[in-house]
Amino acid sequence: MRKLKAILGVLLLWFLCSTILRSCRANNLVCNEKEKRALLSFKHALLDPANQLSSWSIKEDCCGWRGVHCSNVTARVLKLELADMNLGGQISPALLELEFLDHLDLSSNDFRGSPIPSFLGSMGSLRYLDLSYAGFGGLVPHQLGNLSTLRHLDLGGYNRLYVENLGWISHLAFLKYLGMNRVDLHREVHWLESVSMFPSLSELHLSNCELDSNMTSSLGYDNFTSLTVLDLSENKINQEMPNWLFNLSSLAFLLLSENQFKGQIPESLGHFKYLEYVDLSSNSFHGPIPTSIGNLSSLRAFVLYDTGLNGTLPTSMGCLSNLMLLALGHDSLTGAVSEAHFTTLSKLESVQISETSLFFNVKSNWTPPFQLQFLLISSCKMGPKFPAWLQTQKSLSYLDFSRSGIEDTAPNWFWKFASYIDQIHLSNNRISGDLTQVVLNNTIIDLSSNWFSGRLPRLSPNVVVLNIANNSFSGPISPFMCQKMNGTSQLEVLDISINALSGELSDCWMHWQSLAHINIGSNNLFGKIPNSMGSLVGLKALSLRNNSFYGDVPSSLENCKVLGLINLSDNKFSGIIPRWIVERTTLMVIHLRSNKFNGIIPPQICQLSSLIVLDFADNSLSGEIPKCLNNFSAMAAGPIRGQYDIWYDALEADYDYESYMESLVLDIKGRESEYREILQYVRAIDLSSNNLSGSIPVEIFSLSGLQFLNLSRNHLTGRIPEKVGVMASLESLDLSRNHLSGEIPQSMSNLTFLDDLDLSFNNFSGRIPSSTQLQSFDPLSFFGNAELCGAPLTKNCTKDEEPQDTNPDEESGEHHEIAWFYIGMGTGFVVGFWGVCAALFFKRAWRHAYFRVLDDMKDRVYVVIALRLKCLQNNLRRYFLGKGKKHTFITSCKVLLQIQFSSKHSFVLVDAVGSAILSLFHRVLNGMSLSQMT
Ligand SMILES: *[C@@H]1O[C@H](CO)[C@@H](O)[C@H](O)[C@H]1NC(C)=O
Ligand SMILES: *[C@@H]1O[C@H](CO)[C@@H](O)[C@H](O)[C@H]1NC(C)=O
Ligand SMILES: *[C@@H]1O[C@H](CO)[C@@H](O)[C@H](O)[C@H]1NC(C)=O
Ligand SMILES: *[C@@H]1O[C@H](CO)[C@@H](O)[C@H](O)[C@H]1NC(C)=O
Ligand SMILES: *[C@@H]1O[C@H](CO)[C@@H](O)[C@H](O)[C@H]1NC(C)=O
Ligand SMILES: *[C@@H]1O[C@H](CO)[C@@H](O)[C@H](O)[C@H]1NC(C)=O
Repeated sequence: MRKLKAILGVLLLWFLCSTILRSCRANNLVCNEKEKRALLSFKHALLDPANQLSSWSIKEDCCGWRGVHCSNVTARVLKLELADMNLGGQISPALLELEFLDHLDLSSNDFRGSPIPSFLGSMGSLRYLDLSYAGFGGLVPHQLGNLSTLRHLDLGGYNRLYVENLGWISHLAFLKYLGMNRVDLHREVHWLESVSMFPSLSELHLSNCELDSNMTSSLGYDNFTSLTVLDLSENKINQEMPNWLFNLSSLAFLLLSENQFKGQIPESLGHFKYLEYVDLSSNSFHGPIPTSIGNLSSLRAFVLYDTGLNGTLPTSMGCLSNLMLLALGHDSLTGAVSEAHFTTLSKLESVQISETSLFFNVKSNWTPPFQLQFLLISSCKMGPKFPAWLQTQKSLSYLDFSRSGIEDTAPNWFWKFASYIDQIHLSNNRISGDLTQVVLNNTIIDLSSNWFSGRLPRLSPNVVVLNIANNSFSGPISPFMCQKMNGTSQLEVLDISINALSGELSDCWMHWQSLAHINIGSNNLFGKIPNSMGSLVGLKALSLRNNSFYGDVPSSLENCKVLGLINLSDNKFSGIIPRWIVERTTLMVIHLRSNKFNGIIPPQICQLSSLIVLDFADNSLSGEIPKCLNNFSAMAAGPIRGQYDIWYDALEADYDYESYMESLVLDIKGRESEYREILQYVRAIDLSSNNLSGSIPVEIFSLSGLQFLNLSRNHLTGRIPEKVGVMASLESLDLSRNHLSGEIPQSMSNLTFLDDLDLSFNNFSGRIPSSTQLQSFDPLSFFGNAELCGAPLTKNCTKDEEPQDTNPDEESGEHHEIAWFYIGMGTGFVVGFWGVCAALFFKRAWRHAYFRVLDDMKDRVYVVIALRLKCLQNNLRRYFLGKGKKHTFITSCKVLLQIQFSSKHSFVLVDAVGSAILSLFHRVLNGMSLSQMT
């Protein structure tokens, strides 16, 4: 009994104590009821599709809710940290009830362009406000100027916020951090005066703000004295570097890239003794790199890509003993890069020198002071000898010597040395060597366009991309295919095209289950496609072109459910066009040209709404052209309007610093051209040289995005419908050698992009419609039509042959030409022209590159627009997928913009340069900001 009492006593005591304790804790920490209600109404007005605020329940203490931080003394709410929660909807003014709120972070959410609520300006206790990348749009409310205690303000983002007048900002006297990246400030001429008033401002981020105004005026205030980060990149500033800049002695980060800064870079650059990171890339400077850079003793990253500078590289660079990253290229620098430039650079991790006339001239026994991780010397002469100093670099993870003029045998040490490097790019040199005994162990290896020979090398399971196209590998392919491996191969890309490989494909494909892209075209292979290829369930692109394969296309390939490209051209395949091909709705490219396929074109093919290239030319197909081709919606929409509807991942595999792109040789305008970078912007149908009969279905003329249409050398009859005039994108039309008849429709003069037309050897009659376009073609385009007359043919028309509905009146003819001009402008052309012009206008370097390649190919027009869109498209994708981290977003866009100024043959190269530079910047930047900014 006593025992029981004792136990009860203890229990009672425990109960009392715990109650008291709980109430003590509760007294301290239970949140304020009014604030709790305010937070609940705030939540109520929000959209929270990911249910991130599920902990915000009325039953719980609001100080314990996710993202809510209370004072540990008063239990009042001090902080709301709601970044990256996929929130949207309305911001409720109930927030005003949180009278002690000092920190509000709504960044990286999705408020879908709604304006920043002006009542935020009444939250008088705020010291930290981050609304960046939250999807706000419209005018930035000047009421934010009432937040006079603000230390940190970030309004950067994707949506275009804009500012009429920054006068309000001058009230934020204690501001240390001002972030307005991508806020449109072009209306504010006095932005510099407004932001330069703050004596404590440490970081100023004004990237991509449409700043074009004049910074030369001397600053009214010289209170910028604490500035450590100045980011004015991606604006339109078109002037010399202003003098006041050089008074900012505390500066550590200077980002002026992607502007139009001009003039020389003054020697006073050397005064910045705290400067750690400088990016002057993509500007229009001229003159030499100042020798005073040797004084920048804190410099860690030096980025001078595409600056316009000329002259030689100063050897004072060799004094930058803290330098980690050096990026040069796309410039007019000349002369040698020698040992002297690296004398004390023992911390160097990353070197990127590309597209420049600088050349490497170091002794063969040079022992560099650094251990690089990232080395990219491409389109920069380093050869002809294979650089021996490379052997000293034991930490490399990325090596790119593409287009570097090496004409040598890869030395014996190289392959063992290389087996630890993650990515190797040696393409476009004249490197030779027999790889028969080599086991490749790199994640990505690109040896394409060299002189390598011997049997195919063996692979370790680590290899993901193997591109050894365009070399001299020989011998049978089967030992490679059936090789024994210590593990499961991760190979995704296999490109061994354009070599001298022989034999049949072995039935060993089941060992390569990761394969997504296979190109074994242009070898001496023969035989049937083995059934095991059907085990490649992730196969996206298969090219067997230009070999001697024969037989039916095996039905086992039906298992390749995500196939996007199939290229069997120039082989001896026979039989009917397999049913599974025309039902595989993922297909974008079907290229069966020059085989022995027979039978009809199955009408089921019309289901292929993603199709962009259909080539059945030079087979023995018969019957009529299906009448439903208007269902090819990717061709109807064209590359610009259709941009967001298709995933082009079958045509392109993206990896870090590298993307492998599918290519296609198309026979267009009578010559073969290879399409790679712009393949996804091509829209083509070629059914020529078959036995097709019947009339041309009018539906085909609804494909207004189609650029190339070839139906020549068949037995087609009937007329060209008037509807042909809506094919606004048509560049090449070949209907020659059929039995077509009737008049050439007047509407054909609307085809303003048409620069190749062949109607020869048909039964057309009447007058060729007059337009500068049609008359500019060679008479041969109309030859072999006995009844056809008018320019450019020499045969004049008699009165009878005048078309009934046209008025030959001189004046109205002129009107017609003018109308034609404007119609051309209205459709497509304006977009195209604007794209090119904008690019040419803004960037000297692009202008430079463009005029070099414009006469090369008309396709340039597409490249510019297309790549611009791609940039946008990636952004949108990332944004909507919710993966939109600020840095990835910007990176993807910039990289693509950099592609624009490259010449045709160095797209991938520049892509690699761009993304490599950017990713390293961010690494260095992040690394530094930890030590620097806190
Ligand atoms: C209250 O919080 C402040 C900082 O937020 C901290 O420095 C202090 O130690 C805390 N006090 C208690 C009693 O936890
Ligand atoms: C820039 O401002 C200065 C002084 O205000 C003025 O003299 C100069 O003409 C301006 N330049 C331009 C291009 O507006
Ligand atoms: C900026 O400096 C000027 C003179 O140096 C001074 O009069 C002014 O008060 C300063 N502005 C602020 C906001 O501190
Ligand atoms: C650099 O360019 C400027 C202007 O284009 C030219 O006057 C100068 O001679 C060039 N210098 C060298 C070293 O090429
Ligand atoms: C192959 O590469 C991996 C890293 O990707 C490395 O761990 C391994 O040691 C390498 N093997 C050889 C034989 O070099
Ligand atoms: C497989 O592993 C063994 C032992 O680990 C090694 O000796 C051999 O070279 C490896 N083979 C390949 C092809 O990597």
